[in-house]
Amino acid sequence: MIIKPIIQGVVARSAHPLGCQQAVLNQIDYVKNAPQIANGPKKVLVLGASSGFGLASRISMAFGGSQADTVGVSFERGPSDKGVGTAGWYNNVFFREEAEKQGLIAKNFVGDAFSQDMRDQVVSYIQNEFGGSVDLVVYSLATGVRPNPETGELWRSSIKTIGEPVSGPTINIEQDTLESMDVGTASADELEATVKVMGGEDWASWISMLNDAGVLDKGCRTVAYSYVGPEVTYPIYHHGTLGRAKAHLHNTADLLNEQLADIDGAAYVSVCKALVTKASVFIPAFSPYILSLFKVMKEKGTHEGCIEQMQRLFGERLYGKSNHVPVDDARLIRVDDWELEPDTQDAVKVLMAQMTADNFHQIGDYAGYKLDFLQLNGFGYDNVNYDAPVDMEKMLALHP
Ligand code: NAI
Repeated sequence: MIIKPIIQGVVARSAHPLGCQQAVLNQIDYVKNAPQIANGPKKVLVLGASSGFGLASRISMAFGGSQADTVGVSFERGPSDKGVGTAGWYNNVFFREEAEKQGLIAKNFVGDAFSQDMRDQVVSYIQNEFGGSVDLVVYSLATGVRPNPETGELWRSSIKTIGEPVSGPTINIEQDTLESMDVGTASADELEATVKVMGGEDWASWISMLNDAGVLDKGCRTVAYSYVGPEVTYPIYHHGTLGRAKAHLHNTADLLNEQLADIDGAAYVSVCKALVTKASVFIPAFSPYILSLFKVMKEKGTHEGCIEQMQRLFGERLYGKSNHVPVDDARLIRVDDWELEPDTQDAVKVLMAQMTADNFHQIGDYAGYKLDFLQLNGFGYDNVNYDAPVDMEKMLALHP
């Protein structure tokens, strides 16, 4: 079967297995050659392990100096008579294969991280087959829906503003166009639901559950990821529903930090850079900022992808040479520091002011944005022959 990219809106409906393999190999290669993590953990649980920051965290932990065994939880679909499966499914498979070649444990759980059944399976595995405990839990779930654990009813997040509506241009990846878009104001219910989905409640519930089950090792740390961004993006992000959810996540880190003191553990939020991921392309009116940012940071030589961000987070911040974790006044780890450098932001503002539907290809780094999107789904790699058929029998025989 020959697999070509199928894009609908901001969602890729196909994925190329060999390109996904290449993506995993490239990230492994990067961390092997980067400054190594000196004091990293050895047993790591990654919630949301199959793509974006979670996958990069897992690769960094396994191959970036720490040589950690990992358990990954993600929600992905394998190949079937209905389709080729999702990129994250192949990422899981190829990550495990590479980790096992190095003699590392890489266990994948594919299913709903919000369900009790998944929690029970993960705890039982850690207790019985993973040495009994973990010393790092990465929380990197990104989703639009979460079931209420008591009623099963679904909370749905809304990416909206609080207060005033805004309108702004946004990229249509399917059509390669820049279109105007209105972002409405959230109702109280929509705001509450977004905080339920993307705030810290589920993170806290995982950590309490793991702690109660006695599977957090002494000194165990946990980290979740956030975004703040510059003022130009505040109306849609920091001061909108997502920002409110992230504020909840930040508060949760402080509560968990207190809870984990009993086991000499710690909880952190790392504020990361704006990047193209499966989740971030959904944020309306945000793409002109990313296009401008990529252009400026690439010219300046400070651009990073998920893997560079995670290797820097673990190697220099969370497990740096001293035991001290550098944080800002709000106790947040900042690996968005290069993004927020004043000269970078000044240059970004200039580009954003010039950007139109006719010139965004030249003014911003649209080529880079689109390539990142394609590569998330295994397309756009020079060394993969996309005209060659993929042996789907072979793909069907793979397992996560
Ligand atoms: P992503 O979409 O690439 O990854 C999300 C992961 O969550 C995937 O592994 C997916 O399978 C998993 N997942 C989703 N629902 C699940 C469920 N019900 N059960 C099990 N697994 C599930 O997202 P990305 O962008 O890496 O986001 C991770 C975190 O990083 C989020 O908190 C996001 O807000 C944060 N972040 C993202 C930035 C960006 O620019 N992409 C910037 C800063 C922070």
